[in-house]
Amino acid sequence: MMEQLEEKCFLDESETILNKKAVYEPTKGQRFRQVVCTRGWAIATLMMTGTVLVGVALIAAFARPAMAPCEVSVAGDNSAALAASAAAGGAASSESSSSKHDKEKGGEEQTYVATNGEPFPWKELRLPKTLVPQAYDIFLHPNISRSEFSGQVEMILRVMEETDAIVFHVNELNISNVAVHMGKSNTTFSQALAIVKQLEYKTNQQFYVQLAERVSAGSFLKVVVKFSGELKRDVMDGFYQSSYTVNGEERYMASTQFEATDARKAFPCLDEPALKATFKLSIVREKKHISLFNMPLMTSEPYGESPNLILDKYNPSPKMSTYLVAFIVCDFKNVSALTRAGTLVRVFAPEDKIYMGKYALDAAVAVLENYTSFFGLPYDLPKADLIAIPNFEAGAMENWGLITYRDTAILYDPAISSQDSKKWVTQVVAHELAHQWFGNLVTMDWWDDLWLNEGFATFVEFLGMDVVDSSFQGQNSLSMESVSALYKDSLINSHPIKVPVKNPAEIASVFDSISYEKGAALIRMLESVLGKSSFRKGLKNYLTENAYGNAVTGDLWRAWQQVSTVKDLSVSEMMDTWTLQMGYPVVSVAWDSRTLHLSQERFIRLEKKDPEPEKEDFKSPFGCTYLTFKLHFLLAMWEQTGFFSLVPLPDGVDGDNVLWLKGNKDLNGFYRVNYDAKGWKKLTDQLKKDHTVFSVSDRIGLMEDAFCLAMAGHLNYSVVLGMVEYMSRETDYFVWKTVLPHLDFLSQRLLLEEEYDLLRDLALSVIRPRLEALGWSSAGDVTTRQLRKSVIQAAIDYEDQASIDRATDLFAEWKKNQNYSMNNELRYVAYQAGVTYGNKDDWDLVYDRYMDSNVASDKEHLQLALGTSRDVRVLQILLQYTQDSSKVKTQDSAQVVRKVARNRNGLLLAWRFLRQQWDLLMERYGVKSAIIRRMVLIVSNFNTKFDLDEVKEFFKDKELGSAARPLHQSVELIESHVVWSEKYMPEVKSWLQKNRRRR
Ligand code: BES
Ligand code: ZN
Repeated sequence: MMEQLEEKCFLDESETILNKKAVYEPTKGQRFRQVVCTRGWAIATLMMTGTVLVGVALIAAFARPAMAPCEVSVAGDNSAALAASAAAGGAASSESSSSKHDKEKGGEEQTYVATNGEPFPWKELRLPKTLVPQAYDIFLHPNISRSEFSGQVEMILRVMEETDAIVFHVNELNISNVAVHMGKSNTTFSQALAIVKQLEYKTNQQFYVQLAERVSAGSFLKVVVKFSGELKRDVMDGFYQSSYTVNGEERYMASTQFEATDARKAFPCLDEPALKATFKLSIVREKKHISLFNMPLMTSEPYGESPNLILDKYNPSPKMSTYLVAFIVCDFKNVSALTRAGTLVRVFAPEDKIYMGKYALDAAVAVLENYTSFFGLPYDLPKADLIAIPNFEAGAMENWGLITYRDTAILYDPAISSQDSKKWVTQVVAHELAHQWFGNLVTMDWWDDLWLNEGFATFVEFLGMDVVDSSFQGQNSLSMESVSALYKDSLINSHPIKVPVKNPAEIASVFDSISYEKGAALIRMLESVLGKSSFRKGLKNYLTENAYGNAVTGDLWRAWQQVSTVKDLSVSEMMDTWTLQMGYPVVSVAWDSRTLHLSQERFIRLEKKDPEPEKEDFKSPFGCTYLTFKLHFLLAMWEQTGFFSLVPLPDGVDGDNVLWLKGNKDLNGFYRVNYDAKGWKKLTDQLKKDHTVFSVSDRIGLMEDAFCLAMAGHLNYSVVLGMVEYMSRETDYFVWKTVLPHLDFLSQRLLLEEEYDLLRDLALSVIRPRLEALGWSSAGDVTTRQLRKSVIQAAIDYEDQASIDRATDLFAEWKKNQNYSMNNELRYVAYQAGVTYGNKDDWDLVYDRYMDSNVASDKEHLQLALGTSRDVRVLQILLQYTQDSSKVKTQDSAQVVRKVARNRNGLLLAWRFLRQQWDLLMERYGVKSAIIRRMVLIVSNFNTKFDLDEVKEFFKDKELGSAARPLHQSVELIESHVVWSEKYMPEVKSWLQKNRRRR
């Protein structure tokens, strides 16, 4: 399950309780509709004469103590589920203000002393509102061979309030000169202004210019700043360089990564997302290079004395945020195509890799064309470039018109890459293109609303993916994403979607699965409530109204409210309960002959004995963590009368004859559903008899809920393990992808117990039928091939000897002949088996091929396989290689360490390594580094109190920056593992004893 804590770019892993009482009473018409079920249910109804099916989709919304009537939803309708909180009144403020009590790096109170020892007058992290930028004209002269750059930026600022000070952002740049002119318009700046003081305050990455006179509101300033900086290697933010090899020759390129707060590392600027302006660029390059910018090239001319230098000048951009600016100097080649609307789309990569850009190019064209109609607005720039960056921290970055990608997220070689790789490329392309509208055209006002960008792009990426190839099954993929967010949001160390953030480390820390997957899940939930047509209409209005500007979450709700045709729905009241407090409910469902009993409580993975006081930051604005839910279309009356919602069953429905009842239809709602023993029994019987009456998303939901409810003590393991038995007939990839990590969770816990073998036998007993049906061929569509890979890998993980033999045979063939035509799905399986069951020579061979490989996805497979050795010596060597970027690129160092930590022979080595390297890593990558954020996750593999104490002790006094939350979540997971072993292990063991399988 650890993967589920992973950040977005590595997709692969007590509270006060307020009892609520309510009664739902449906009207006759509504009762009638309640039994009009989904197709699956209808069929089942016909088959089971004498039984009545009641399909109910519940949806939960957080609500304040004072309840009022709510909306209701029933399955089988397109709008599936409707949640409307009964809450009324003011939502929490969207503004996150800077505090006067910010902490300096070491945790000391901030002193606000500038680099020259003088007091720094501006004491806020946010810039003053006195000046607003209008236009930037940037000149840059990068010198790649000397790893440096110099430049000049001309900023046109509008004076909003009278002032004598200019504050802008700058980080790790040397500022050599500042000049300020004033003008009455933004084109003529006749009056030079004297500067009294220039101060830099590194902690807040700010520069302060004190003018000799005050400038009045309505006038304009032209601020010209000369600067220089280092073009760093091995860091992956600001303006930095990467190296790559073409035919054995090492080459260098320079590119940018600004989101969230690193534009200020490349040029002085007012680096906040709401401070939008136009950008012009002139950039010097060598003749052998090209340059790229958000906008098309205007002119190229010789530069200075050197015959080797060219100055490229670019068209000005539309109004946009600083974090979306990008420029690149490289010698890449491109492939290109035009969309129907005439937009030029190009994919750039090193010359020996450019053939692998064709797939992304076709995908990008298809997706762009589709989004134009989906968003109802054209793509706004004349061109869209997509480029593979050799060293890149995230998966990809949506810079407007110049989207940068990690090589594995854009390059696809049909002859070698796997279906997983094809899907990932499609998904990332679709995600970043969604941002061109959602994020770039309309941008969140501040980072506390990051989810607007990322949640929405995540929601849309699954639509875009299906445009390229519907066999990716975008909606089922999105269900998987929701499930991973449900998992993460069940931790006490989760956070509300909208979260106050101030400094760069806090901002970096919200790029996580709450902003992405929970955000996407909530948008899907709302779409199901509004209906597709209103959803799209509202979206278009939102984009049109806010184009080239900024928005807060409330603006989106308002846009949907205006087009909503759902009676009595207050979009913001409903959605605020989901976005302003963390967590979500588990809805318990039971029924007797006449009535449905529904109750709800917050679902928490690990109930603490002594609940910690709710974190101040995350206090629920609703004053409670209890929830209210509604049954869509079933609504008639709502009363607060008891602990439960009692819903009379429709006329003619006898509860005693209900075949089964399944809540949260198609996983459209962001909550879990629990049933009583009878309810689970009926569902299990149906799964075993014919699981296909449930949709794939419903099966994902059932299995995921069952496992997670058991993990948290809400359900007996005997129920869940009984349900697992049906998996021997499950043929769906997504359901397997849900269940396998849960079996893995059990095997991680039972690994050192005698009963491990029994668990293994259970796992293999359900895996084997799939294994036999799928074989080892490369036949089938995308998900069949993905499933084959997953079950073979699982069989090997559970030490199925026949599978191990077959995989090691494949490895042996490949060892003999590198060009051996291998089933691409099985490459990783073979490499891994070769390394795990091979010797040091095998490891060396895989290492050599890894170093030589030209295909990013295959290189990654080879690299990760290295971490699966059982030889601690090579694992230690591999850990050391992560600190040498000629062996493991910095972008990959965390994933390699994590791979070693997932290996039972490597966990302690990796933990020791992390501790040894901690100070160095922090110094090298800094407090907002994603590398560190990813590395700390390794501790979540621990199981025991001893390890828990050790982890706590080590991190006690450490400055964690953006790794704080991932660490706290990992610690919570270890705690949950300790509790699990105490509380639930005996039950699992005894079930396994009683239900032994044949091997
Ligand atoms: N805006 C992000 C890139 C980013 C992430 C910038 C973290 C700064 C910090 C981009 O749109 C993104 O979300 N990329 C994903 C890929 C996507 C398919 C989810 C990523 O990098 O993993
Ligand atoms: Zn994104």
